[in-house]
Amino acid sequence: MSISKERLLQRIREGEARVGVVGLGYVGLPLAVEFARSGLTCTGIDVDPRKVSAIERGESYIPDVPSADVQALRAAGRLSATTDFSVVAELDTINICVPTPLRKTKDPDMSYIVSAVEKIAAHLRPGMLVILESTTYPGTTEELVRPMLEAGGLKAGTDFFLAFSPERVDPGNPTFNTHNVPKVVGGVGAESTELASLLYGAAIETIVPVSSPQAAEMVKLLENTFRAVNIGLVNEVAIMCQKLGLDTWEVIDAAATKPFGFMPFYPGPGIGGHCIPLDPHYLSWKLKTLNFYSKFIELAAEINGSMPEHVVKKVGDILNDDGKAVRGSRVLVLGVAYKRDTNDVRESPALDVIKLLAERGAKILFHDPAIESLRVEDGAAYKRSPLTARILASADCVVIVTDHSSYDYEWVLRYARRVLDTRNATRGVKTHAERIARL
Ligand SMILES: NC(=O)c1ccc[n+]([C@@H]2O[C@H](COP(=O)([O-])OP(=O)(O)OC[C@H]3O[C@@H](n4cnc5c(N)ncnc54)[C@H](O)[C@@H]3O)[C@@H](O)[C@H]2O)c1
Repeated sequence: MSISKERLLQRIREGEARVGVVGLGYVGLPLAVEFARSGLTCTGIDVDPRKVSAIERGESYIPDVPSADVQALRAAGRLSATTDFSVVAELDTINICVPTPLRKTKDPDMSYIVSAVEKIAAHLRPGMLVILESTTYPGTTEELVRPMLEAGGLKAGTDFFLAFSPERVDPGNPTFNTHNVPKVVGGVGAESTELASLLYGAAIETIVPVSSPQAAEMVKLLENTFRAVNIGLVNEVAIMCQKLGLDTWEVIDAAATKPFGFMPFYPGPGIGGHCIPLDPHYLSWKLKTLNFYSKFIELAAEINGSMPEHVVKKVGDILNDDGKAVRGSRVLVLGVAYKRDTNDVRESPALDVIKLLAERGAKILFHDPAIESLRVEDGAAYKRSPLTARILASADCVVIVTDHSSYDYEWVLRYARRVLDTRNATRGVKTHAERIARL
């Protein structure tokens, strides 16, 4: 066993390791808080000074992280934040949780990872453990991150340690969080895997080691491609059911009673967020470099990407039944976050639904409990409308795009004249069923 490994093992075991998290967003902040809760001293590093000063004031900007926790950990001296990368020199471990978006061409945008790794490399010292968590294509850790860190002369797996561990956070999920979702870890060499597993083991219940960083990178892409493809399938099934005059939700609920071999997925207005719409493209991009074309990924993207159009067509049909045109009609969009009970609008299908309806001349209002203003792709900006009986009654059509649990759907149905429910949010509502159309 190398001296550097032994020293780090001991520091982690004794709770003395100084850990760092680079990128304090939806993934990084919960992880930093979890490390600090476990008794380690954690320093968050972010290029956004607003996030850093919020943490320094003891305020959380991530709904799943209570401000009280940030305050308590700060008061205990176990959590701090900075924009200054020179602190890396004092850290034993660093988890990188920066964004991995796509370029307009749907190619991976590695610029955030490159920028973070460049700054870490400048302060890398023997015995440090660096773990990449950002979702990315198989090969990133070995082919991109490793050479950048090794450029100063230290070798990964012996002088310093390097691993990939995919983040599986599910924002807004009341049951599963950073602490109790098993963590997959694949290191450059057995010692890196062992150290990374030990570090996570201090804060996370179950660790799942795999044989390499590439395997760990692929695990994440399999998980998200699985979701994207199954959502694509069920969205297509929803269109089939409509053509067959069947209730999609009834069919799915009945199929879900099968105790084996079936897992329910639900249709919706499209997919959103930082993961499902983007991650599979990381995989297909990598495979294109190997002359392989991933058909399932492309097909799922096509079907899921067409759902906002489908929603807009259904709004048109509803208005048509009432003798109205889309142009000039008032459409109230309820819920614009990409996912129930979150405040995240990244890639939200609501943005496309609003843009497409506005292009057809509809007058758009929106309400979301956690989002005050919205900018759609063409630059148009919207301010949240109040949600009152009068506003509901004044809309020619109300479209439920996000099924936030704080909405009282009985109450919505009491005043709304026509409702397009893209999420089956109104499933329990008994009154005014004739006003509801479902996907
Ligand atoms: N949000 C999710 O549900 C989720 C789930 C699993 C995996 N992921 C993956 O985790 C990664 C991070 O996602 P996120 O949702 O937390 O993103 P985010 O945008 O919420 O947070 C990223 C943070 O990194 C900071 N940042 C950007 N460049 C930086 C740099 N060079 N140095 C330091 N900080 C920098 C940003 O200011 C931001 O605060 C992505 O790869 C994403 O695909 C996200």
